[in-house]
Amino acid sequence: MELDGKRFQLLLSILLLIMSFTSSSASDGRQSYIIHMDKSAMPASFSTPHSWYTSALSSLSSSTDGVPPTHLYTYNHVMNGFSAVLSPAQLQQLEKNARAGFGDDMIIGIIDTGVWPESESFNDEGMPPVPARWRGACETGAEFNSSHCNKKLIGARSFSKAMKQSGLNISEIYDYDSPRDFMGHGTHTSSTAAGSLVPCADHFGYAKGMAIGMAPKARLAMYKVYFYNDSISACASDTLAGMDQAIGDGVDLMSLSLGFTETPFYENPIALGAFAAMEKGIFVACSAGNSGKIAMFNGAPWITTVGAGTVDRDFSGHITLGNGDLSITGRSIYPENQLVFRVPLYFGHGNRTKEICEYGSLDPEDVAGKYIFCDFDVETSYDRQLDEFRRSNASGAIISSDSGIFVFPSEFNLPLVIVKPEEGDLMKAYIINSKNPIVSVKFQTTVLGTKPAPQVAFFSSRGPGSVAPWVLKPDILAPGYEILAGWAPNKRATFIRDDALLTDYILESGTSMSSPHLVGIAALLKAAHREWSSAAIRSALMTTSDVFDNTKSILTDMATGQSGTPLDFGAGHVNPNKALNPGLVYDMEVQDYINFLCGMNYTMQQIKIISRRSDFNCENASLDLNYPSFIAILNDTSTTSYTFKRVLTNVVNSSSVYAAEVVMPTGMKVVVQPMTISFTEKYSRDGFNLTVEIDLGQKPRSYYNGKYGYLSWYEVNGTHVVRSPIICAFSTQQW
Ligand SMILES: *[C@@H]1O[C@H](CO)[C@@H](O)[C@H](O)[C@H]1NC(C)=O
Ligand SMILES: *[C@@H]1O[C@H](CO)[C@@H](O)[C@H](O)[C@H]1NC(C)=O
Ligand SMILES: *[C@@H]1O[C@H](CO)[C@@H](O)[C@H](O)[C@H]1NC(C)=O
Ligand SMILES: *[C@@H]1O[C@H](CO)[C@@H](O)[C@H](O)[C@H]1NC(C)=O
Ligand SMILES: *[C@@H]1O[C@H](CO)[C@@H](O)[C@H](O)[C@H]1NC(C)=O
Ligand SMILES: *[C@@H]1O[C@H](CO)[C@@H](O)[C@H](O)[C@H]1NC(C)=O
Ligand SMILES: *[C@@H]1O[C@H](CO)[C@@H](O)[C@H](O)[C@H]1NC(C)=O
Ligand SMILES: *[C@@H]1O[C@H](CO)[C@@H](O)[C@H](O)[C@H]1NC(C)=O
Ligand SMILES: *[C@@H]1O[C@H](CO)[C@@H](O)[C@H](O)[C@H]1NC(C)=O
Ligand SMILES: *[C@@H]1O[C@H](CO)[C@@H](O)[C@H](O)[C@H]1NC(C)=O
Ligand SMILES: *[C@@H]1O[C@H](CO)[C@@H](O)[C@H](O)[C@H]1NC(C)=O
Repeated sequence: MELDGKRFQLLLSILLLIMSFTSSSASDGRQSYIIHMDKSAMPASFSTPHSWYTSALSSLSSSTDGVPPTHLYTYNHVMNGFSAVLSPAQLQQLEKNARAGFGDDMIIGIIDTGVWPESESFNDEGMPPVPARWRGACETGAEFNSSHCNKKLIGARSFSKAMKQSGLNISEIYDYDSPRDFMGHGTHTSSTAAGSLVPCADHFGYAKGMAIGMAPKARLAMYKVYFYNDSISACASDTLAGMDQAIGDGVDLMSLSLGFTETPFYENPIALGAFAAMEKGIFVACSAGNSGKIAMFNGAPWITTVGAGTVDRDFSGHITLGNGDLSITGRSIYPENQLVFRVPLYFGHGNRTKEICEYGSLDPEDVAGKYIFCDFDVETSYDRQLDEFRRSNASGAIISSDSGIFVFPSEFNLPLVIVKPEEGDLMKAYIINSKNPIVSVKFQTTVLGTKPAPQVAFFSSRGPGSVAPWVLKPDILAPGYEILAGWAPNKRATFIRDDALLTDYILESGTSMSSPHLVGIAALLKAAHREWSSAAIRSALMTTSDVFDNTKSILTDMATGQSGTPLDFGAGHVNPNKALNPGLVYDMEVQDYINFLCGMNYTMQQIKIISRRSDFNCENASLDLNYPSFIAILNDTSTTSYTFKRVLTNVVNSSSVYAAEVVMPTGMKVVVQPMTISFTEKYSRDGFNLTVEIDLGQKPRSYYNGKYGYLSWYEVNGTHVVRSPIICAFSTQQW
């Protein structure tokens, strides 16, 4: 769920239009049209209606003869809207974008911790009746009954048999024995995917603005499979039952912000449930996990595996020293509108070059009632510094550190601002040179347009997958860092002093937040292209994603501060507008996945468990899926040449020709055959082979681990670009 600011522009979800009369006709069929827009639906990311309209136009591809849409007028008084010259195809696309815009009548199943149905994000104002095909239910249980569902939240069920069997007693102290959300997590994920528009929401004064899900008109169904317990996590059989029911109820898409330790696919409940969903045409997105390089979850090739990216937003405390001698903006998410005006500022007692405020180092006599200035120290850690501030009765603290971005919102539980070391040095100079150093601080400031963004969130799990490294995972990034969305209002969000703080909306970070973003966007695509398979939707999302950030550099890995690679961000960061019109897709069928399982040397019995069919054979076993990315596994030390076969499908209603362009680092050579492919009509196909050759020369194999480039198919005389990463990597295969 995203708010104001230009962080994650989801133009197509809000665009609403009524076609009007046509006038002057050009020889090529282009005509001028007047487009009415619903200004109240303008995303807050646009500062003016004009910028919204021009952005809507620029998302349209050039017509077949290469002519882009032409903007004529923006109307502000006689109506809200604009006029433009469009080709018939562009007009059709604009209408389609609007239709897709809301994810109308798509049903998203969320497998999670339950839902808080009273959240404003689930209000069903203006929603049409529940689709007749829906077979789901709203189950009765602790503090939950059928009247808690509505036209937005159309289903809610709870699966706890296995949990109870394993000894968990669900009591109201710990959880609700019903679909009601105790932990807040499921309310957050579901409101992110398809929450209704909420005009005003914030996290204790931060990220204030309009809250809206990715697919605001899509329906939600909650399948609660995860109950609060310190010692037990989700049970495999409860999770599988939830997925099974979601398929039976008739969801169109599913998102799982949970994962099981990777095991072979025939033992992994999410892999099994997702295979059955894929066969039914249900799109499944899952979180990649939050363990950085340690482990990745949900790497099955029929799942869309989503890593977490940051957004271009930060939260800050604004510091003024002395009489305005110096102003500094640092990072803070302290949840209180505290007035800090000309408070004494304390910095050490010795030679005052460094003060790390380790536990027991501050004398309450010196610091009580003052703001403390300290240097961060890895060994002391924020935790122990904060404990010391509390112990010594300091009023607040400013820490000089370059690792403030790693401090989570809930850790700002006392008045704390973290400033960059360069600014820390300026503060030190001020303090040392003044007789009575004083500070004023303004909390609850939200900074938009931060750079670089997006970045790969430091915790986001990295590829390759450990079970099937022959497909590049994660597939894609979506926003998953400090995301504002709904929450269980009786659940402690954070605390200050000894007070628990409660909230309806909260900032949370994790790949748990990125999977529902992605599934909401997939719902918009599916609404626009109902005939597309899950593989086609994933392909559209991947081949149009962004690999450059808002400084035009390759996405940075927040964990290292260096450029990331496709092992960190997959194909790139999702770009919803471009995904709607990818030009070509890499499609797949159930048989392709079976061939892949055969290629993994799974036994007939194991493949039967996954595919639930016996009428298959392994004559076309292959580890080379028709995937929109390429990964060459370096482990077999004798191989220096890797060949991939691919087939592309035209999804545009016209003929087209595409030419290949390859960008690779030195030492990696890629040959594409043929270099030009062509399509006669919609759904026509053409294939190519791609060979990666690595030149070992003087270099060890490890030199190539993580080396990558791209294959891009450029539409000749058109605007579509279909891009795929090509990467070499060692596998960490365990199964
Ligand atoms: C459901 O519970 C609410 C109170 O939470 C109650 O007002 C309502 O009558 C109940 N509805 C049904 C159908 O039991
Ligand atoms: C979690 O389950 C274990 C085993 O049944 C139980 O001993 C423990 O009290 C439970 N904890 C909570 C918080 O429910
Ligand atoms: C769970 O509840 C049952 C019946 O109330 C009780 O017999 C059992 O000891 C409880 N188990 C735990 C782990 O608390
Ligand atoms: C000042 O203190 C720091 C840290 O305690 C120490 O490393 C440094 O040598 C001291 N400098 C002087 C000039 O005493
Ligand atoms: C901190 O302040 C509280 C209340 O003013 C007081 O009771 C406590 O003794 C103080 N702590 C220290 C370490 O001085
Ligand atoms: C599958 O078995 C074949 C034949 O033994 C072997 O060459 C191949 O490396 C195996 N593939 C995998 C993924 O283990
Ligand atoms: C294997 O591939 C061949 C050639 O494409 C095809 O004719 C055959 O039907 C395939 N077999 C299976 C089991 O899919
Ligand atoms: C595709 O284009 C043809 C001819 O231009 C047109 O007749 C047909 O309606 C179009 N189909 C779709 C689905 O847009
Ligand atoms: C790709 O390679 C296969 C086998 O190496 C060959 O049969 C096929 O014709 C090639 N396809 C193209 C499009 O070059
Ligand atoms: C692209 O445009 C050029 C110039 O108009 C034309 O000669 C060429 O045939 C076109 N190519 C395709 C594939 O449409
Ligand atoms: C591949 O190489 C990596 C790095 O050397 C190693 O950790 C991994 O176990 C190897 N995997 C296999 C399947 O040999």
